[in-house]
Amino acid sequence: MQAGLFITVEGVEGVGKTTNIEYIKNWLQHQGIDYVVTREPGGTDLGESLRNLLLHGDDVSDKAELLMMFAARSQHIEKVIKPALAAGRWVLCDRFTDSTFAYQGGGRQLNPEWIRQLETLVQEELQPDVTFLLDCPVEIGRARAAARSASDRIESQDLVFFNRVRDAFLHRASLYDRFRVIDASQDLLQVQQQIESVLVELGAPS
Ligand SMILES: Nc1ncnc2c1ncn2[C@@H]1O[C@H](COP(=O)(O)OP(=O)(O)O)[C@@H](O)[C@H]1O
Ligand SMILES: [Mg+2]
Repeated sequence: MQAGLFITVEGVEGVGKTTNIEYIKNWLQHQGIDYVVTREPGGTDLGESLRNLLLHGDDVSDKAELLMMFAARSQHIEKVIKPALAAGRWVLCDRFTDSTFAYQGGGRQLNPEWIRQLETLVQEELQPDVTFLLDCPVEIGRARAAARSASDRIESQDLVFFNRVRDAFLHRASLYDRFRVIDASQDLLQVQQQIESVLVELGAPS
């Protein structure tokens, strides 16, 4: 059986990741493509427990945060992502390792070489096939996120932090062909039209 495609959606808070995951999900459903929707940190019982500690725990050191992200990811890959792909299902994931490079690397300024080593340990050869980077000025995302809900531990960082996160995402997008950068400051309809054109280009599995 042909393996499914692994699609990730990335970007800072409030750019529209969760909203557009819903859109992509509906598109896959309409095409009759078998898929799994999941998120990071999270996606498994252990991962969701770690997510809760990561987003709402107090006094988490930067290195502990990095290791918890990868602990959650390891469980997620072994229990959810790899089995789904092997069964020919597409995996649609709200954040993945690019977020770790962006937040723990760019935002927290941890050594990206450590992140690369953990990525190799945890993922081996696994990489997303396509990554949508929803990009817009951080102030816009912040305003949208603030209108949606109260900030969690990471969301309550300042604009300087989020600008480093955004820059790190854009830097990664400049390095890897799997990225499709979408201007998320546009109306939702325009954002979704661009996403759809990428999905059409990917096509339905044979
Ligand atoms: N292109 C857009 N224009 C205006 N509002 C948007 C757009 N995309 C998303 N939103 C709104 O912004 C808020 C944050 O979106 P969400 O998908 O939760 O972002 P994320 O998951 O990236 O943090 C939601 O209320 C959503 O309806
Ligand atoms: Mg979200």
